[in-house]
Amino acid sequence: MANLMTNYMGLKLKNPIIAASSPLTANIDSIKKLEDAGVGAIVVKSIFQEQIDKDAELNVDIEQSFMNHADAYGFLKGASEDHYIDMYLTLVEDAKKACDIPIIASLNGSGNGSWIKEYAPRFAYCGADAFEINHYIIASNANISGKEIEKDFIKFAKIARNEIKLPLSLKMGSNFSSPSNIIRELDFLKYDALVLFNRFYNPDIDINELTMKSGNPLSTNTDYSEVLRWVGLMSEEINLDLCANTGIHDGETLIKMILAGASAVEICSVLIGNGLDSVNLMLEKLNNWMENKHYNAIEEFKGILAQEKMSDPTIWERTQYIKSLHI
Ligand SMILES: Cc1cc2nc3c(=O)[nH]c(=O)nc-3n(C[C@H](O)[C@H](O)[C@H](O)COP(=O)(O)O)c2cc1C
Repeated sequence: MANLMTNYMGLKLKNPIIAASSPLTANIDSIKKLEDAGVGAIVVKSIFQEQIDKDAELNVDIEQSFMNHADAYGFLKGASEDHYIDMYLTLVEDAKKACDIPIIASLNGSGNGSWIKEYAPRFAYCGADAFEINHYIIASNANISGKEIEKDFIKFAKIARNEIKLPLSLKMGSNFSSPSNIIRELDFLKYDALVLFNRFYNPDIDINELTMKSGNPLSTNTDYSEVLRWVGLMSEEINLDLCANTGIHDGETLIKMILAGASAVEICSVLIGNGLDSVNLMLEKLNNWMENKHYNAIEEFKGILAQEKMSDPTIWERTQYIKSLHI
């Protein structure tokens, strides 16, 4: 049996498969099942900044109509926010008690991060081994330039890094004009890891009902190429760890990500679509492949196909197909 252990954001994981934040990581029964299925770590379902704000506002509206007292607003909103954060912190604490593997708390939000200052101190004591911040931007406001969005994003990242003392990763999208520049900036900010990349909610339209609906929330096993590209391009240029995420459905793709330089992968869709046995199948493939190639440890092959290690580094950057298709 090969040694599948990996170091990720200062944590020692028994293997490189992390259960990504999803409904499967939203309750203790399911979290325990994921540990039993063999994952190396678990990212708990995110607490959403907007959810805290919105639910708190809603409660305030309902309760205030009974109390009819202006001063009650601040008190009720604060109490409601506390309630949602407390519920989340209890989930993380219970996950820590129930499992032996590392538990990563997750906070999901947008904007320039001023709200993190308010919430972060409370998360320091919930027992999580690490923290993942999921930042998402849909650049839908035509009055705001890409430059301004990136400035806000970096401001957000800086605040989060300053406020959160635990090992910290940032789960980001790929839709920046220069992902490599942003990734390097985050390295300068001393993040412990980046999760490449977030998969956004996809809108769709029901043509019979003439309504908006959710697109398929699950990835397919061919959705990993953009992730592989940026892991391969950046892994040797930065000090922080990379965790590959999106479209990793089998052991072969897991191996590709490590060869490109990822320290770990996060998986979600394959667990929801194919069940928790997927973890074992992926680990079996990784182990058999390592034995075949005579690798004893992940570090022996991690990043050996990253751009900087190639005799022809341009192979990672070709933008046109040129001769790849002979039809
Ligand atoms: C139903 C569902 C709920 C999700 N909820 C969260 C969440 O709360 N926080 C988060 O960071 N990512 C969330 N994700 C995204 C996943 O963690 C993961 O990043 C994404 O699905 C891509 O990985 P995959 O291709 O293995 O599915 C969710 C995904 C799905 C399908």
